[in-house]
Amino acid sequence: MKTWRIGVAGLGVVGGGLLPLLTGRQGQLSQIGAGLELAAVSARNRDRDRGVSLEGVAWFDDPVDLASSPDIDIFVELIGGSEGPARDSVAAAIAAGKHIVTANKALIAEHGAALARAAEDANVALFFEAAVAAGIPVIRAIRDGAAVCDIDYVAGILNGTCNYILTQMDRRGSTYKDALGEAQRLGYAEDDPLFDIGGLDAAHKLAILTVIAFGVCPDLKSMPVEGIENIALADVGHARDLGYRIKLLAVARRASESVELCVRPALVRERHAIAQTGGAENIIYFKADPLGVICLTGPGAGAGPTASAVMADIIAIARGARGPVFNRPAKDLKAASVVNPIVQIARFYLRFSLQDVKGAIAAVTEMLAANDVSIDSMLQPPVGEHPGKPAAVDVVITTHSALDKNVRCAVDAISAKPFVIGEPTVIRIEEF
Ligand code: HSE
Repeated sequence: MKTWRIGVAGLGVVGGGLLPLLTGRQGQLSQIGAGLELAAVSARNRDRDRGVSLEGVAWFDDPVDLASSPDIDIFVELIGGSEGPARDSVAAAIAAGKHIVTANKALIAEHGAALARAAEDANVALFFEAAVAAGIPVIRAIRDGAAVCDIDYVAGILNGTCNYILTQMDRRGSTYKDALGEAQRLGYAEDDPLFDIGGLDAAHKLAILTVIAFGVCPDLKSMPVEGIENIALADVGHARDLGYRIKLLAVARRASESVELCVRPALVRERHAIAQTGGAENIIYFKADPLGVICLTGPGAGAGPTASAVMADIIAIARGARGPVFNRPAKDLKAASVVNPIVQIARFYLRFSLQDVKGAIAAVTEMLAANDVSIDSMLQPPVGEHPGKPAAVDVVITTHSALDKNVRCAVDAISAKPFVIGEPTVIRIEEF
């Protein structure tokens, strides 16, 4: 059995999870036919104790030097970021004929097609199972399990940090800030948590799944991306009262010459598996013909699950897995435009904070009707008597199916009324 020499660049949360798997599971590895040796590492801080002896392991200050070193066969990139040392080192590894494993979704989402082309020209493997949903083998499921199927729909929860925060708000009544702090402490969040809560992390993952599932490269910049920053505890509670949960959903649908893509909070019926996926778990649904509907759920963040997915890729390479990176030659990947969401039809959850004055509800319903938006349900808790200054009250409305653009126009018109306090909340209701 050949021993593959592994070089790991980046020893943060994921790298720290990978080292014990690489060095401490030799018996298991030889049983599955993968001889692996940790040959070299590169990280920012040489002195940090990583709980694993690095004696006899070559140290490189510069990951680009590690990537092209003759002492390694497989380069593992765990640095992160779509530019700088991550991109440079992967490019250097391809140029030096090394196989590559990365957990870097930003790199693959933004430069995947070009890197795939270079890797295919150089006849080296480029694997990134850990980049999407960490421990869930969703890339393998789509690329290998549904290799000859037509896929036209992929949806799910792709960010563990947001799901953790929304779950803590829903189940414990935690504030957004406390739940985010806890997610960071547990190692789910990105270095810059705005990537998580602003939806960009999920958008990167959705873009990667879109290329693998549909064989087209979406324009990431035109993907509608909304995070969970504006979700208030009140919305979580109202959604629950209506029989829904609020989730940060990523959805990709194949359209004729384009793709419908979006990342945004949505109300999902409480009995649906997506609504029941809690904590840092991720879930992915896809529809494949003739395979049917596949639903995968599991840990989508954290050191152990991510490192385990990196190991799976290393083992696959050691066992000879190759093939086109995105399941079709990279030179055949076409660019696809993203459908503008304003032309889409959906049901909506709306919350207005109103001063309790005569005619406020009448004006709200009039604006909705004037924009061709029909109300399905309406909820206003009693505010009681309030002599003097008008009290504030939350009015929650769900709509029948309506054009996104019409709903936005109605909400803008309502916002301009003097009795409306603050910004109204508009969240789609996603039916599966
Ligand atoms: N920060 C990511 C998440 C984990 O919260 O899902 C790595 O993708």
